Amino acid sequence: MKNVTLITGATSGLGLEYAKEYAKKGYNLIITGRREDKIKANAGNIENTYNVKVKTVIVDLANEKGVNTLLSEICDDEIEVLVNNAGFGLKPVFSEVPKEDMDGIMYLQMNAVVILTQNILKQMLVRNRGTVINISSDGAFAVMPGNILYSSTKLFILNFTEGLYMELIDTAINVQVVCPGFIDSDFHESAGMNVVKKKKGFMKFMDPEEIVNLAMRDLKKGKVVSVPGLDAKIIRIMGNFLPRNMFYKIIINFTRKRNEKLHR
Ligand SMILES: NC(=O)c1ccc[n+]([C@@H]2O[C@H](COP(=O)([O-])OP(=O)(O)OC[C@H]3O[C@@H](n4cnc5c(N)ncnc54)[C@H](OP(=O)(O)O)[C@@H]3O)[C@@H](O)[C@H]2O)c1
Repeated sequence: MKNVTLITGATSGLGLEYAKEYAKKGYNLIITGRREDKIKANAGNIENTYNVKVKTVIVDLANEKGVNTLLSEICDDEIEVLVNNAGFGLKPVFSEVPKEDMDGIMYLQMNAVVILTQNILKQMLVRNRGTVINISSDGAFAVMPGNILYSSTKLFILNFTEGLYMELIDTAINVQVVCPGFIDSDFHESAGMNVVKKKKGFMKFMDPEEIVNLAMRDLKKGKVVSVPGLDAKIIRIMGNFLPRNMFYKIIINFTRKRNEKLHR
């Protein structure tokens, strides 16, 4: 297939929104996920609505076998845009995270991103065109207790993408990392997290559509690090500029209050 956007994790949330956005622009799609019925239904709806071709690859990308399966499925496709979006969160504190989940989150949110990017970059470099979008999180700026492996892998994605941008500066390949705050998606339910998805106030849950719109606007402007929404921007400032002791105090207090609310 030619003129393809490959999006990992397009079953729901941000990935599905990116799929619609690039289909609207006339790209054919390759979309991945593990929930077969859902992703196939998404593919059918997008094909009917936007008149583009959509290939689905049902694959778990949290291990080497899954990533190799995806690479063999896409080896004949001309990929113009890669969106490394698939990701998940973990509920327990670090000391209680099962080894399997620890390996999985690190593989999906580091190895899979790196391997897919390098592979697809090779064909983009031959054509000297393309776009790589990596989905990080505002957690990359501010690690929180109860979320440290997630935030740490998202910090890796941020650093990796900024480095990639600088390495590719003399090419016509666009590179962006997106660092959203809370998103109203399947993310928290999938992790078994008990959250109230508030739609107002600080750290509210934004709609995936709004985040993709803001990130696409930043991409047009050539912004390498896109931080959609005011709340995520505040988190970035806190994480980057507060003295560390003050930062720890604020985050620890916030986490305690949140936990009290959850266990009430
Ligand atoms: N939700 C938030 O508050 C938030 C905040 C900041 C950043 N983010 C990031 O935004 C991205 C999209 O998340 P979302 O909020 O849209 O959540 P979502 O609705 O749960 O979407 C996550 C996607 O990743 C896929 N995925 C998860 N684990 C996978 C695995 N092991 N192998 C293959 N695919 C996998 C899921 O597909 P299947 O379940 O079908 O496999 C799904 O399509 C993630 O990278 C997430 O870390 C989320």
